[in-house]
Amino acid sequence: MRKDRFTGKVAIITGSAQGIGFQLARDMAGEGAKVVISDVDESSLKEADDALAEAGIAHLAVRCDVSSRPEVDALVNKTVEAYGRVDILVNNAGILKNFPIEETTDALIDATIDINVKGALYAIRAVTPIMKKQKYGRIINVSSICGKMGDHSTTFAYGASKGALLSATRSVAYNLGPFGITCNSIAPHAVMTKLMAYWDEGRREDAAAKIPVRRLGTVEDISNLMMFLASDEAGFINGENVNINGGYYMD
Ligand SMILES: NC(=O)c1ccc[n+]([C@@H]2O[C@H](COP(=O)([O-])OP(=O)(O)OC[C@H]3O[C@@H](n4cnc5c(N)ncnc54)[C@H](O)[C@@H]3O)[C@@H](O)[C@H]2O)c1
Repeated sequence: MRKDRFTGKVAIITGSAQGIGFQLARDMAGEGAKVVISDVDESSLKEADDALAEAGIAHLAVRCDVSSRPEVDALVNKTVEAYGRVDILVNNAGILKNFPIEETTDALIDATIDINVKGALYAIRAVTPIMKKQKYGRIINVSSICGKMGDHSTTFAYGASKGALLSATRSVAYNLGPFGITCNSIAPHAVMTKLMAYWDEGRREDAAAKIPVRRLGTVEDISNLMMFLASDEAGFINGENVNINGGYYMD
């Protein structure tokens, strides 16, 4: 049965030119949302823009580097100009660079925090007055299993950034809940997008063998969860983090 959970809703998804964010944009649009895709990667954004247009999907494509506060403000302003409201914000943009701790440069620490943490904070701050006025909002922060269990390999700045999103999620849930706005986070693991290209075949097989459901995640798995959290059906879930990892890590 086709669902229609997002008719009349406007959704901003950061970092949505590819991977998990792009899947979510297509899925939300398929259920009636007006989606705003945005990304710092202009060529991928153009491809995503063209793909949505070809599929006849109403959308807006905005180039936005989330580490730039003016660009995030402009993204939100352009959305309101085009569609008059913002119902859903998905802070999905993120980077993960694979270096041992002692080789993690100042520049990489700064970029990881600027994009993965500050980008989300800027976007949440920008949509807050709009969602408060609407007395409605759904905010989803894309954290990671690394934000919960720490990172076990070579991306410790990434783990720290994703941990910060868990705390931010609770603060937002607490402060904005009274205004009809919920904020939740998700903690995915092992979805083979561009971000995870540094996992070679051996590592992929090894990871899948350690996951109780014996497979890696898919962008559809992650999109399905976010669709639920962004829907009206999830109105009593607030400040929660949902693991999505096939049972690899449970808490
Ligand atoms: N793939 C996984 O296994 C996994 C696991 C846990 C969490 N995540 C998180 O999921 C989110 C989506 O990642 P993905 O796996 O789809 O990877 P991806 O690389 O396909 O997508 C990430 C997108 O973010 C964009 N981006 C990077 N820097 C940006 C910036 N400064 N401003 C705007 N956009 C920027 C990239 O261009 C890219 O399109 C990320 O936050 C990632 O940390 C992924």
